[in-house]
This record gives sequence, C-alpha cells and structure tokens, in this order.
Amino acid sequence: MKFFIDTANLDEIKEANALGILDGVTTNPSLMAKEGITGEKNILNHYIDICNIVDGPVSAEVISTDFEGIVREGEHLSGLHENIVVKVPMILEGIKAIKYFSSKGIKTNCTLIFSAGQALIAAKAGATYISPFLGRLDDISVNGLDLIAQIRQIYDNYAYDTEILAASVRHPMHIIHCAEIGSDVMTGPLKAIKALANHPLTTSGLETFLADHAKGNS
Ligand code: E4P
Repeated sequence: MKFFIDTANLDEIKEANALGILDGVTTNPSLMAKEGITGEKNILNHYIDICNIVDGPVSAEVISTDFEGIVREGEHLSGLHENIVVKVPMILEGIKAIKYFSSKGIKTNCTLIFSAGQALIAAKAGATYISPFLGRLDDISVNGLDLIAQIRQIYDNYAYDTEILAASVRHPMHIIHCAEIGSDVMTGPLKAIKALANHPLTTSGLETFLADHAKGNS
C-alpha cells in the first residue's frame, strides 16, 4: 500500500519524506489555509515547493465547480510540475472534467467520495485516484472502512485501473485496516504514520537490551 501524507506543512512533509517510506502528498484548500498559504501565486508556489521535496504524486485541488473552470484550473495546475495530480470534487461537472483530463493524459484525484456509486462513476470517467473520506464517515456513525471494502470489490469485479486512495485517515488502525482491505493508497497525518512504529514491548525490550549491554561493558 502506498503512503501519502495529508498536509500542506513543509516541515511535516520533509520529516515523512526523510523516513524513506513516503510515496506522495495530498492537500486540500483547508490544509493550505491552515498553513496560512493564501493568494493564487503563493498557493501555486507552495505546490511547487511540495513537488520539489517529494518524488511522487502531489494532489492539488481545483476551486472551480463548472466544467470550463475545472479544466482551465486543472490544466494550469498540471503544467506546474510533473508530480501534480489534479484534485477534482465529486460533482457531475467534475466527472465531465475527469473524463476530459483522462483523454489528455492528465492525472486526477476525485475527492469527497462518500458512496460506492460515486466511486463507480469516477472510475468510469477514468479517474487516476478516488478519495473516499473514511474518517468523516466514521464521524457520522457510518463505517468508513465498509465503504473502502465495497469499492475494492467493485473495482476488482471490473479490473478498473482507478486507485483507491483512502482519505480522512485519523489513526494507525485506519491505516492497518485499509491495508487489510487492499486499499491501493492511504493518505493520513504524520502522527498516524509515525504511530505505526510504536509498540510498548519494543520500547521496553530496547531499554532492557541497552541496559544489559551497558552493564556488561561497565
Ligand atoms: C483528502 O485528500 C483530504 O485532504 C483529507 O484526507 C480530508 O481529511 P479530514 O477529514 O481529516 O479533513
């Protein structure tokens, strides 16, 4: 399973990249605003900065909601850097735009997926990735992981190339369950990624090894 980090924070992206296990980055307008990145020029430069850190796909989201606007913005974004994947909202105008981008060889990430029907129509349009938001479904008492499993089955039934990019990941168990289900990618916060490495028996075992070594060498 590929690991993407879901942030626009350059320090976090550098830290995750330095681990050597990072495959890409996802951003969204809220994450950009959280970092105080505003104004078109600053936003575009920030995407380039991210692309220069990570050698992998970087999702950059369009703001337009009409076909012409999405195409105009998406073509501009994809021209910024070869790593850019155009993130398009799951609306009918977005589906038309994804079909257009796919015919031009422009990679897309269809975002704000909350149902299997949405995932199906995005795959038919030729989306490179679809982003089911599992944490936000969990937030409203709907099992987000069930949706990932349902989409996995549908895509496997028809051998769709579209990759499932499990998004809105909140904690390490989300990541583990996504891997069990066979999600192609997960995008999550640095905290959840780093937490995968933790186990109290590893911590105490290492403490004992180091203490025993120190005793033998004192
Ligand atoms: C997906 O690409 C989104 O950026 C993201 O995963 C949303 O997550 P949130 O529900 O934690 O905001």
